Amino acid sequence: MHVKRVALLGATGSIGRQALEIVERNPALELCGLQSGSTPLDALAAAHGVDHVQVGGDATLLLEACEPDVVLNAIVGFAGVRATLWALERGVTLALANKESLVAAGELAVAAGARGGGLLLPVDSEHSALFQCLEGRAPDTVESLVLTASGGPFRGRGRADLAGVTPAEALAHPTWRMGRKITVDSATLANKGLELIEAHWLFGLPYEQIEVVVHPTSVVHSLVRLRDGALLAHLGHPDMRVPISFALTYPERAATPAQRLDLAAGIELRFEAPDLDAFPLLGLARRAGEQGGTFPCAYNAANEVAVAAFLDGRIGFLDIAATVDDALGAVEGSPARDLDDLVEADAAARRAAERRLVPA
Ligand SMILES: NC(=O)c1ccc[n+]([C@@H]2O[C@H](COP(=O)([O-])OP(=O)(O)OC[C@H]3O[C@@H](n4cnc5c(N)ncnc54)[C@H](OP(=O)(O)O)[C@@H]3O)[C@@H](O)[C@H]2O)c1
Repeated sequence: MHVKRVALLGATGSIGRQALEIVERNPALELCGLQSGSTPLDALAAAHGVDHVQVGGDATLLLEACEPDVVLNAIVGFAGVRATLWALERGVTLALANKESLVAAGELAVAAGARGGGLLLPVDSEHSALFQCLEGRAPDTVESLVLTASGGPFRGRGRADLAGVTPAEALAHPTWRMGRKITVDSATLANKGLELIEAHWLFGLPYEQIEVVVHPTSVVHSLVRLRDGALLAHLGHPDMRVPISFALTYPERAATPAQRLDLAAGIELRFEAPDLDAFPLLGLARRAGEQGGTFPCAYNAANEVAVAAFLDGRIGFLDIAATVDDALGAVEGSPARDLDDLVEADAAARRAAERRLVPA
């Protein structure tokens, strides 16, 4: 049996903890490195017999030291970008949860992946679903991708009803248990905006061929429309261990303990259009994606700043989108030629967003 060496970045987070569970269950997977932002890892490393650990700093130092076969990048935010590019450049299989890195560095990531020649396996449940529906299909048979969104805790509310919502309300997601940043992103639909850009880079389709539809029960993880009118869907109980396991064990597809869908009990297949007026961050992401260059990087950076400010009680819920909109208007877009360009664009957008947060 070939044992895959897995480097787990963001090991202490929501995805990281579920990945540990998957690795523990599977003798064909072995942890070779653990990383966190600031949480100590000594106990976790001892429990899993892992020699290489890193708390904070540049995750690529850990990756150089532990020589993984698979990097599971479950860092949150732009902080994950170096690890993504490291794995793609070297042809090391990348199991990618850190969507922000592909949003910010899409063009560079695709180029690095082409040079490295390794696998890029999405961990986001929607993109894992799309990957599986697209597998083995000729590109010209694909008409469009359909990303599903739960709609978050505020689905159905208009703008006027959203002004006073609290961080605690935004953190009460109806179908998924996740880290704080992505949970707020789900409430604003910025998460679907990030996923739209992620899908563009992962699957190489133009934005007009990527739809977003709200599906409140999160049972259909995403769909692919084919040119003959067929619509392929990926269904399952919402459980991130399934796409994590898929990415870590690809192409074997190991068994998981995930709850099975009871079809005979009746499942609700309801879909509706997203409300772009109440949740403008989805439309802003589409525009930033279409503008290209460093705009998606700026969108992501401004959103990170605004979400942190909302969670700190510094701004209201509607200010998140307003902050991103203002920051995108304030920055100069430019081509993203290398990582330095992105680091600069990220910093400039953060400054623009911070200025918007300071009361005039
Ligand atoms: N949770 C989900 O169900 C889900 C689903 C799809 C995609 N994702 C994506 O997966 C990623 C992780 O999400 P999550 O929900 O697991 O987040 P989370 O629970 O907040 O965990 C984030 C992880 O990243 C580490 N980290 C934070 N800041 C860092 C930095 N500056 N440098 C290095 N590491 C840092 C954290 O370490 P500390 O403990 O030290 O802070 C933690 O291990 C995000 O990109 C998210 O969009 C998550």
